[in-house]
Amino acid sequence: MILGEDIKRARQALISGGLVAIPTETVYGLAANGLESSAVAKIFKAKNRPNYDPLILHIGSIAQAELSAEFHEDAKNLAAAFWPGPLTIILKKTAIVPDIVTSGLDTVGVRMPNHKLTQKLLESLEFPLAAPSANPFGYVSPTTAQHVADQLGDQVDFILDGGPCQVGLESTIVDMSHSSYEILRQGGIPNEAIFKVLGEIPVREESSSNPKAPGMLENHYAPTAELVVGDISQLIEKYTEKRIAVLGFQSTYGKEGIALSPSGNLEEAARNLFAALRALDRGNYDLILSEWMPNTGLGKAINDKLKRASRKD
Ligand code: TXA
Ligand code: MG
Repeated sequence: MILGEDIKRARQALISGGLVAIPTETVYGLAANGLESSAVAKIFKAKNRPNYDPLILHIGSIAQAELSAEFHEDAKNLAAAFWPGPLTIILKKTAIVPDIVTSGLDTVGVRMPNHKLTQKLLESLEFPLAAPSANPFGYVSPTTAQHVADQLGDQVDFILDGGPCQVGLESTIVDMSHSSYEILRQGGIPNEAIFKVLGEIPVREESSSNPKAPGMLENHYAPTAELVVGDISQLIEKYTEKRIAVLGFQSTYGKEGIALSPSGNLEEAARNLFAALRALDRGNYDLILSEWMPNTGLGKAINDKLKRASRKD
């Protein structure tokens, strides 16, 4: 069985240079020894990920983070507020981090995930784990072990099953590698919470031709089915000819589909988002119609994902 809770097996596979899918509070990661170029290369191959898109390092302690990145006072304060948790900090890298991890950049992303099994695993290892989300490049991130098995089951040595992810959105990425700090990717920690610690800093909304965080690429996090976001009543009238499914916040407006949180809770909506997109993608619909979530707290990060998932360039 490739899927299970056996930390020793995960550890052994990683020490041998293999690939292990790991649970985190955000999404499942596709992990390898982050200090071993040949192991990291397997991640890019399995995901079909372009080598210009850098990986983040997952660490179990601040001491481990300090081996990989130049931690300054502000970074320590931000880490103290949110680690373990859905925050990735970009910092100047140290010499031990191989170029393949950072795509040749002089900076590296580090994150301490908040998941018991993965924390135990990290504590048992002498190296950080390089891990992107465990999905084929460009597709929706996995929030259960089964999602990983469905798409990458034949590419990994083991899937450490830690249950469904509790946050359900990827980590918020804050670039602190130079003096002007910036949120590069909205995620599991709302922007406002970051501002409380750092003061207000810019939030990167759009991708550029040379994106600093290629997770910012517009056509990203996308299901295969076409996704249109807007006013549901208007969209339903517009697309009467098509087989549609509705992805709603609190209801599906009497149509087939999924309501992300009938009680109107944005944390719950975030937790359900990626599984809902996968389920609707399997449903043989011509179109998925989604509404915008309330644009506050995690709603902003959800809307950012919907915006990117709905573009087909
Ligand atoms: O929640 C998460 O962050 C999940 C879990 C597994 O930890 N990981 C994740 O990794 O979402 P990934 O590779 O799917 O997204 C990381 C993003 C990518 O868009 C990458 O381009 C960006 O982080 N990134 C990594 N290193 C960077 C760097 N040095 N400078 C700027 N962006 C960087
Ligand atoms: Mg990803």
